[in-house]
Order: sequence, then structure tokens, then C-alpha cells
Amino acid sequence: MAKMEVKTSLLDNMIGVGDMVLLEPLSEDSFINNLKKRFDHSEIYTYIGSVVVSINPYRSLPIYSPEKVEEYRNRNFYELSPHIFALSDEAYRSLRDQDKDQCILITGESGAGKTEASKLVMSYVAAVCGKGAEVNQVKEQLLQSNPVLEAFGNAKTVRNDNSSRFGKYMDIEFDFKGDPLGGVISNYLLEKSRVVKQPRGERNFHIFYQILSGASDDLLNKLKLERDFSRYNYLSLDSARVNGVDDAMNFRTVRNAMQIVGFMDHETQSILEVVAAVLKLGNIEFKPESRVNGLDESKIKDKNELKEICELTGIDQSVLERAFSFRTVEAKQEKVSTTLNVAQAYYARDALAKNLYSRLFSWLVTRINESIKAQTKVRKKVMGVLDIYGFEIFEDNSFEQFIINYCNEKLQQIFIELTLKEEQEEYIREDIEWTHIEYFNNAIICDLIENNQTGILAMLDEECLRPGTVTDDTFLEKLNQICATHQHFESRMSKCSRFLNDTSLPHSCFRIQHYAGKVMYQVEGFVDKNNDLLYRDLSQAMWKANHSLIKALFPEGNPAKINLKRPPTAGSQFKASVSTLMKNLQTKNPNYIRCIKPNDKKAAHIFNEALVCHQVRYLGLLENVRVRRAGYAFRQPYELCLERYKMLCKQTWPHWRGPARAGVEVLFNELEIPEEEYSFGRSKIFIRNPRTLFKLEDLRKQRLEDLATLIQKIYRGWKCRTHFLLMKRSQIVIASWYRRYAQQKKYQRIKSSAIVVQSYIRGWKARKLLRELKHQKRCKEAATTIAAYWHGTQARRELKRLKDEARRKHAVAVIWAYWLGLKVRREYRKFFRANAGRKIYEFTLQKIMQKYFLEMKNKMPSLSPIDKNWPARPYLFLDSTHKELKRIFHLWRCKKYRDQFTDQQKLVYEEKLEASELFKDKKALYPASVGQPFQGAYLEISKNPKYKRLKDAVEEKIIIAEVVNKINRANGKCASRIFLLTKNNVLLADQKSGHIKSEVPLGDVTKVSMSSQNDGFFAVHLKEGSGAAGKGDFLFSSDHLIEMATKLYRTTLSQTKQKLSIEISDEFLVQFRQDKVCVKFIQGNQKNGNIPTCKRKNNRLLEVAVP
Ligand SMILES: Nc1ncnc2c1ncn2[C@@H]1O[C@H](COP(=O)(O)OP(=O)(O)OP(=O)(O)O)[C@@H](O)[C@H]1O
Ligand SMILES: [Mg+2]
Repeated sequence: MAKMEVKTSLLDNMIGVGDMVLLEPLSEDSFINNLKKRFDHSEIYTYIGSVVVSINPYRSLPIYSPEKVEEYRNRNFYELSPHIFALSDEAYRSLRDQDKDQCILITGESGAGKTEASKLVMSYVAAVCGKGAEVNQVKEQLLQSNPVLEAFGNAKTVRNDNSSRFGKYMDIEFDFKGDPLGGVISNYLLEKSRVVKQPRGERNFHIFYQILSGASDDLLNKLKLERDFSRYNYLSLDSARVNGVDDAMNFRTVRNAMQIVGFMDHETQSILEVVAAVLKLGNIEFKPESRVNGLDESKIKDKNELKEICELTGIDQSVLERAFSFRTVEAKQEKVSTTLNVAQAYYARDALAKNLYSRLFSWLVTRINESIKAQTKVRKKVMGVLDIYGFEIFEDNSFEQFIINYCNEKLQQIFIELTLKEEQEEYIREDIEWTHIEYFNNAIICDLIENNQTGILAMLDEECLRPGTVTDDTFLEKLNQICATHQHFESRMSKCSRFLNDTSLPHSCFRIQHYAGKVMYQVEGFVDKNNDLLYRDLSQAMWKANHSLIKALFPEGNPAKINLKRPPTAGSQFKASVSTLMKNLQTKNPNYIRCIKPNDKKAAHIFNEALVCHQVRYLGLLENVRVRRAGYAFRQPYELCLERYKMLCKQTWPHWRGPARAGVEVLFNELEIPEEEYSFGRSKIFIRNPRTLFKLEDLRKQRLEDLATLIQKIYRGWKCRTHFLLMKRSQIVIASWYRRYAQQKKYQRIKSSAIVVQSYIRGWKARKLLRELKHQKRCKEAATTIAAYWHGTQARRELKRLKDEARRKHAVAVIWAYWLGLKVRREYRKFFRANAGRKIYEFTLQKIMQKYFLEMKNKMPSLSPIDKNWPARPYLFLDSTHKELKRIFHLWRCKKYRDQFTDQQKLVYEEKLEASELFKDKKALYPASVGQPFQGAYLEISKNPKYKRLKDAVEEKIIIAEVVNKINRANGKCASRIFLLTKNNVLLADQKSGHIKSEVPLGDVTKVSMSSQNDGFFAVHLKEGSGAAGKGDFLFSSDHLIEMATKLYRTTLSQTKQKLSIEISDEFLVQFRQDKVCVKFIQGNQKNGNIPTCKRKNNRLLEVAVP
């Protein structure tokens, strides 16, 4: 989901005022109070226009998270509450989008949070700029340069446990897209005196403690060091351990950082060797030696340490020893060597240690620069970050403070110049009349310090170079003369009598009225520190070292490049580098972060007003506000202004259709803001006094409350109404559902009641009907029963009457019969006795026979000859009669049956009868033939033209014409032949051609043989010696064997009057040519279905398999 853009403003939810420019009334008190109020609410950042004032919270606040980075990313500077990220974002975006080089100037006193601020800026820029492997490496190298420089350049002081003891300016370079390319670091004024001496409660540079705590035993051995801090004179012991600082772990971090930045292992080793050598130098001690030629001499007490240093650095021990004992001064061609007394020897030792370390530090910066420098030659955009000491006002201020404060004067000047320039440019851009602004220009103080002729630095240099005795006092005298009239210079001894009685100003001091306050400088040490002398013998000894890094650190020790000119003084060097820095900064768009320390205790939540007030003063913050407010205190683009205040005027609320400027004009007129209070620029409205702005803000707040109430009111109304409507709709829905439900229920109830009532009524009706029907039925049944009983009674009565009557009649008849009998017997007694028995018998018999025949007549069976039925015999004595009658009847009906036949039918039956006589119960084939009528001429020879030739050849009447299978005598195979039987002959003809193949006169046929089985095989035996018998007997198979045999028998009988012999046997002999072959019928398998097969087995046997 797209994040909703909410236009906010710095002015929203402001604690105190977020921008001091809006402070009303503007005074030191109100300023401090505002800072305190905000600090108490954990608001550590406050703006002065575009300057960020940061108060060190001394505790970690949750305001640097990645979410915060995102919050401030691409937002306008005044849109959110003041934050260092807002400034970083503004700087980065104008660098990237408007191609303006930027510098971020971070100032403040020690412990105010400058270094932390610079790291926050760098990490913010790293977080929002481009990404990618290469870019990330550059970022990482830039970020990791910090721990390395901090280890060598930071130390614990009473003010800050991680105090930067050098000034640092870092240019971060970007390409046109805003991706980092690399960077360049410049360092200023390392506090090298710390190497040899630290104030009470402070430490030497971190790296010394880190090596001793974190290096492995092996590494310590190589560096010829011992882990014990107390072994080293240069390490102050009272605060060797710092709370919350783990030196050993930091050592690992530093080595890791060095690796990331790109230090080679041997380089790291060399660096550590130099550090070890510095540490060990402090342990060299001197003792006075006998005076020779009235000069003091010194001698090294214990040469062991010297030996080890020489081993570490590869310096010839004697060379170094000599360098600590003599000082050679070269003037023109002359070389003059003087011995060093003990104090001078110590001075020389410390000078060497300081020089070694400070040169090592500068070398480190150069080496880091080599690693992080941009690899491309493309045009770069630059963001410079300056982390340098702010003003220092101590009780004892020396050369260092003087230099630092000078640097801050320059920075203030740049600030004034650039701020005013920007202000002026904006006025021109916006077409606003420029009114002269009263402000303090500190150019005059810069001039006091840096003027080439009369400046304090020039004076100091002059003193240092002057031959003759030069002391700090002579330098002060000189100042008293030259600067006496300068209004910012104060000295007791100056010509000007103003301070003659000022006891707060000691004689050995001078005071400068810096823009941020007066600072009193102790003149002691100025000359020495400015000279920064290292005896040539020592630098030459160093150059001779067999250690490439040390050799490189002391190029002036090379005798070939001997330079008689004095090296530039510390003051002039610093002036030159400050001048370069200023030139550099002037080309860039400045962004200021002013860091303030809230207390001296490094503690959270404590806001020491006096301390803060002091810093506010010397940082010139009120000056800042005044310069910023010189013209108009507040300005804002018309669109934003209209957007913010449009609700204050009816015409502009809720929408203004015209141009924004016109809208703002209408708005301001309507609000009756005095005309002198504002001016219209081209794109911005300029408001002179913060009062006006706050009035607008108050009105807005009030109006917002009203609007909120209105919105609330409308919203509540809307909400209630919506709720009400919803309830109403819901109520209707619920009611309708409920009604429906209730009606459904009611309907269901009524329906079920109706059904119950209905069923009761129907039941009742049905029962009533049933009752009626039952009653009716019972009535009917009763009537029927009564009727039946009645009829029964009637019938029984009638039956009884009839029976009685019959009995009476019978009785009458019996009596009558008896009477008649008696009468007849009485009458015929005389006749009856002789014949009566026979006559009764005959009569009875006659009657029985009569009855028998009459019954027979009625029970006669059908006339079919095959009907076997015959009535049962009624009396045993009629048995034979009954049988005889049956026989007669059968004969009669057979005759009756026969009488119906024609002659032809008679013939057929004769044949059938013949067949029955011949084959019945002999041949199994016979029963099947009974039902078949004998047709004889199966082939219609006379009608079929195919047999015309055959018909022509046969003149006689054909009795049989049928196709038979003739069995081949040789192999038993079958061949079809037409078998013809005529009155005299048996003919065999070819089935296809009708050609007659054999003709056998019936007289030559002697016998026909066949099996008793169900086959159609038969053999026709011929008379031996007859004409037809040449080939032997015939063996045939026919479907009509019974018919053929019968007809052959009958024809032979009628022609030859001889009975043809028919042999029925399962084994008979036939004559084939000469052989007598036995034809044997066997029970065969049913392989060929029901067809019998015939096979000639050998000469004597022909087998017929019958299924
Ligand atoms: N924004 C911050 N949030 C939390 N702690 C901070 C912040 N700024 C500074 N500090 C704390 O204050 C200490 C001192 O800060 P820092 O080293 O930045 O001071 P400095 O101004 O650089 O001092 P010096 O001039 O001595 O180098 C830090 O070590 C840290 O503990
Ligand atoms: Mg610092």
C-alpha cells in the first residue's frame, strides 16, 4: 500500500521552539531555557535556521534507527522535528540533485559530541545513497577509516573518554548519481605533546593501551614489549583503564578495520613497530657525566632499552646513542658539534618520540587516503565533514588553544559570510528589498591573528627566527608594542594604559576578545611549540634506520637533501592549512552542526545551565540567531503557507482555486496582519517577527480545535445516523423474518390440527359407515341364515315327507309285491315248482346279458386299429366272451379299415407287411423304416432330362430308382451309383452320366446279406459262374435298405417263383473275384457322426464300423 503523504511541519507538536529563530523574546535566558526544555524532553536537536544545535545526551536515544532514516529520507528540512538526519538529508539531496558541493561543519567543545555527529552524518549518507557491491566496499572503507584514526588520534581526557586529539576534515566524493566514489582526509594539529606527557586523569593515545592489552604474546615478543603498563614511563598509570572501554577488543576492531581499509600485513607490523619504539623511547633515561671543557654531558643509564629500540627499528645503536649525546649545528660550510646535557638529552628524546608519533599519524592519514581515494577521474561532487575543536577557554590557555581559537574565528567568519551571502541571495531571488543588517563581523579579530605584518602569528614567527636570545617574554613584549592599540587585544604591559590595573590579567599573559568571548593566553611555551624543534642528528639517525617506514617518515634526514633553511613553524603551517581549508569551504555550501555539552560529568539527564550558557556564548549561537533574523525571521513557500493556514479564512477554506500567492494575500488581509510584518517574495512569504507566526499558529490551533469539533460532530452524527439506519434496516429484516417464521409456525400448527380433526372426523365417519355396513351385513346374514334355516326346515320337512311317502310307496310296493308274489305263488304254485328254477336262471342270465351288451354298446372303443382300449369285464363268467368279443371287434375294425384302401395302397401295405415279416425284430434299422412310405422311384428318371439316356436304355418298368453307395471291393471306399430294379434285372448306372455299368438278371441274384445293426450296408450275392459275377458280389450302402431288400425279394419271388435268401448276420462272406472276403460289422466310434464307415482291412476282411 502506498504510504500516505502527510504534510507535517516542524511547528507540529513542538516542544519549546524547534527553531530558535522563532524564539520570542530572544535573550540568552530564553535561549537556554528553550534548550533545557527540549533537552528535558529528550529533544537534543534544535535549529537556528538551517544550523543544527546538538546537545550531547550522554545516553543512547532511539532516534537513529533505520526507521528514522526512512522517516527523514527525502523530506523537507522543516517538515519534521529537528534532527541531524534532516540536515544530512538536505545536504545530500542538494549535492545529488542540485550539484552543489557541501560541507558539514561540526564544532563544539571536547565531549560535546562532534565525532559522534560526524559519524551519524556519514552513516546516514551511507544508508541513503546508492547500493551495490562496489559502492558498499567504498562505504565500508570510508566508515572503517574512523576506528583506525580514533585509535591513533583519540585519547581519554578528563572531558571525554574518547577525545579526538586532532582536527579532521574529510571530503567524501560522489558521482553524478550520488553514489560514493571515495574520499580524502585532512588532519590538523595532532596534540603530540600527549605522547610524552599526559595531564592528571588522562591517558596517552588509545593505541598504546590497545597493543599492550590486545596483542598476542607472540606479537608482544616481536615488538619487544611487556604487557605491564607500569613498565612504560610514557603511559600515565592513574587512569590506564577506562570504564566501559575494552582495549583488547578495540585492538581487534582496529586491526580488522585496518584490513578493510587496505593495510597490508607488513604495513600493520611496521606501524606497530614504530608505536612500540615510541613507547620504549620513554624508558631511555640519562645520567649526568663528568664535565669536559666545562660542558655538561649526559649518558644513557641503561643501554638495554636502546638496544632493543635499535633492533626494532634497524638503527645502528651507536648512531642513535650519539644522536642523544651531541647536537650538530651546520652553519654555512661549518659543522659544530656540542654535547647535550641531561635536560637537553631528555628534550631530544621527547622531541623524537613526539615527532615519530605525529609523523606516523600523518603517514597513516596519507596511507588511508591512498586506499579510499576515488578510482575514477570523472567529475566528482564533494561533501566535506569537518570535525574540529570548538573554542577552548581553559584556565591555562596555551599555544594550542590559541591556534584552535584562531581556527574557530575563521570558521565563524565563513559562517557569517556565507549565511549573509545566502540571505542576500535569497532576498534578491525573492525580490525583497535588502535592508542593512547589523551584526558583528569578526574579520578584525582574524586580522589581529593572521595579518602578515602585524598579526600575532607573524610576530611569533619573527621572534622564532630572530637571532639572539629569544624567549616567550620577548615575544610578549613585541606583542605589547605592536598590538597595543588593537581593540581586541588586551595586555597588562601594553602601551595602552587600560589594563594597567587589571589584576585579572597576569603579566605573562595576553588576552584576546574573541567573537565568542575573552580568552587569556599564557605566553609560556609559545616560542618552543611554534619552533617544534627536532635536532638534525636525530632526524639523520632516523633516516639511517633499516626500517622503510621510519626512513620514509624522516626525509629531511637524508644528507643528500640537506636543507639549511629552517622548517616552517607550527604556527605558519597551521595558518597555511587553515587558509587552504577556508578556501575549500568557501566553494561549498555550508551546513552547521553546533555541539553542546550539557554537563562536565559525562552524565545523562543533567543540564548544567552555566556550562551551557558558557558554550552558547563562545559558540556565538545568539549571534547566529540574530544574523539569521536580521531581515525576516520566517519564510515559507506560498503553497506550504496556504496549506497550513487556509482554514483561518473563509475564502481559502477548504480550497483555494487561484494562485497560492493570491491565496496568502487574501488570508493575511483577512487576518488583518499589519503590512510591515510581512513581505511577499516571488515564491515565499517572509514574516518579520516570530510573534506574527505564533499568532498564526495559535489561530490555527484554535481553528483546528473548532474544525476537529466540527468533524467530530459530523462524524458522530454520521456514525449515529448510519448506525440508526442500519438498526432500522436490521429491525425490518428481523421483523419480517420473525413474522414469516411465526406465520409459518402458526400455519404448521393449523395444518396439523386440521389434519388431526380431519382424520378424527374421517375416522368417525368411516366407523359409522362400517357400523352401518356391518349392521346391514349382519341383517342380511341373519335373513339368509333364517331363510336357510327356514328352507332347510322346509326341505327337511319336504324330504321327510317325500321319504315318508317313498317309504310308504315302497312299503306299499313291497307289500304289493309280496302280495302279488303271494298271489302268484298261490296261483302258480302248482306250475312253478318243476321249471321255475331254470326259468328264473335263464331269465336272470338273459337280463344280465342284456344289460352287458347294452353297456358294451355304450362303452365301445374307437375304430382305430391301433386303439388298445377295451372296457373292463363286468362278470367273471363272461371272461372268454369278453376276450372273444374284443378279438372280433378288432378284426372287424381292421377289415373296416382295410376296406377303405385303394389297390395301390394295398400293394404298399403288402410290401410293408412283407418287410415286417422279413426284418421285424431282426434288423435294428427296421423300426425306423415303418413310418417311411416306400416310394421306389426316388429318382424321377422319366421326367429328369439328365437321365434321358438311361431311360432310353431301360425299357422295362422301373421298380426302384435310387442312388446308392457302391463299396469299392478293393479298398472299401464309396462311389455313388444309380440303382435300378426292373421286373427282370438289377441295373447299376453312373450317377452323373446315366451310363449303365452293370446289369444283373434277377435269376443270378442268389442272396442278400446285411447286418443286424442300424446300418444301410447290404451285399448282393451273385450266382457263381453267371455273367455278372465276373467281378464278384456287390456291396452297397443305402438309406432305404429295408425297402430295397423287400422289393428285391418280392420281385425275385414273382419272377423266379423262388424265395430270395436274406441273411441277417454281423459277419458274412462275400465273393470278390477270387477272394472270399469276410464283411464284419463292429461297434465303431462316433468320429464321423452317425455315418458308418467301411474299410478293407486285408484280403479276407472288410470292416464296417457302425456307430
Ligand atoms: N548523539 C549522541 N548520542 C549518544 N551519546 C553521544 C552522542 N554524542 C556524543 N555522545 C557521547 O559523548 C561522548 C563524546 O562524544 P564525542 O567523542 O563525539 O565528542 P567530541 O565532541 O568529538 O569530543 P572531542 O572534541 O574531545 O573529540 C561519546 O563518546 C558518546 O558517549
Ligand atoms: Mg571528537
